[in-house]
Amino acid sequence: MENFNFYSPTEFVFGKGRAAETGIYVRKYGGTKVLMHYGGGSAVRSGLIDTVRKSLAYAGIAYCELGGVQPNPRDTLVYKGIELCRNEGIDFILAVGGGSVIDSSKAIALGVPYAGDFWDMYSGKPVEKALPVGTVLTIAAAGSEGSGDSVITKEDGMLKRGTGSEHLRPKFSVMDPALTQTLPAYQTACGATDIMAHVFERYFTNTKEVEITDRLCEAVLLTMVRETPRVIADPDNYEARANIMWAGTVAHTNLCGVGREQDWNSHGLEHELSGLYDVAHGAGLAVIMPAWMEFVHNHNVMRFCQMATRVFGCQMNYEDPEATALEGIRCFRSFLKSIGMPINFAELGAKEEDIPTLVEKFGVGDGRTGGFVKLSAADVTEIYKIAAHAAL
Ligand code: NZQ
Ligand code: ZN
Repeated sequence: MENFNFYSPTEFVFGKGRAAETGIYVRKYGGTKVLMHYGGGSAVRSGLIDTVRKSLAYAGIAYCELGGVQPNPRDTLVYKGIELCRNEGIDFILAVGGGSVIDSSKAIALGVPYAGDFWDMYSGKPVEKALPVGTVLTIAAAGSEGSGDSVITKEDGMLKRGTGSEHLRPKFSVMDPALTQTLPAYQTACGATDIMAHVFERYFTNTKEVEITDRLCEAVLLTMVRETPRVIADPDNYEARANIMWAGTVAHTNLCGVGREQDWNSHGLEHELSGLYDVAHGAGLAVIMPAWMEFVHNHNVMRFCQMATRVFGCQMNYEDPEATALEGIRCFRSFLKSIGMPINFAELGAKEEDIPTLVEKFGVGDGRTGGFVKLSAADVTEIYKIAAHAAL
């Protein structure tokens, strides 16, 4: 195991009806004038925005609002948010929504105290300061409610890039699993795929002797394999929703990833897909991640056998371990298909002729080449090709 620091100070406020307490937590973490930031309408329709408004008013907190965050959140709204916050003297950003709303909130939070263009921080400049952020989560997926990461799409050129900093960890996150019951099945499945991908990015490692984090990873994966079909079949299953929601947070606070080298190439490859085609991040991952696994499995066949046997219940074939590894990858892809995810370019709405563009945008030369297996441009091309033609 490698040396590590683990600092994850977010206060998670979990359970039914807890959004009504939001104002108390804003106050606790120093907010006096808040920007409430939300998405395209689901939180308004469900009545959540009204609940949060009342809660802020009850706690005596002044606020203004900025809705309209799109999935794959755009820089253009971030600029608007930064200006609004400066004009209104905002000292706390409250995200009410999913990963996109939270990431847009984090971008505004780091942009307000920064004299230059906030995009600098999405182009490699470290984040030195940010306004505090709190969240009320409405979808179990990105894990942004507990992470220090934010991913924004620059509308000019549809370039999707991320940044990460301890300054961006939310001060608190309200997590009511019942709020996710209004999600369409497709979004629930996209979220589940993203949660599993966050674990796999950490699971496939070259670091030896990481039993505890291996087992934590497997616990999250086994939970997702069990609970996702239950909520797809019965969207109002609160208990299954609750397990998935907490799994999503555990998957991405880095509790499962400390002390080990991580990969993250599948996320990089996917961000080019959701950047170019504006598709859901989880759907892009469903197409990319099994393709990446197929391409790299020979790098450590026994690690893929471990996934196959422990997570998907495959029988170990000691005569031919590679067959077991490939069987595990097949199980993962067919699980994704069974929950309604696309598994190839055509199903996602991507085009094979765009592969050279995707490879160029991915930019192998700029250091985004992963910890498990370093990829060349030819490797990246091959993975996109596998993804283009994948079948069960
Ligand atoms: O905009 P509204 O109307 O709210 O609709 C949203 C959106 O269309 C809808 N939705 C959310 N909660 C709902 C709901 N619909 C009904 N009922 C509810 N309770 O779902 C759609 C997707 O929302 P979005 O926030 O985009 O989903 P998600 O949480 O998957 O976030 C995806 C974004 O997070 C980034 C992704 O790249 C993508 O841009 N990621 C952020 C990470 C991070 N900050 O740590 C890590 C991830 O790997 C990921 O890259
Ligand atoms: Zn993700």
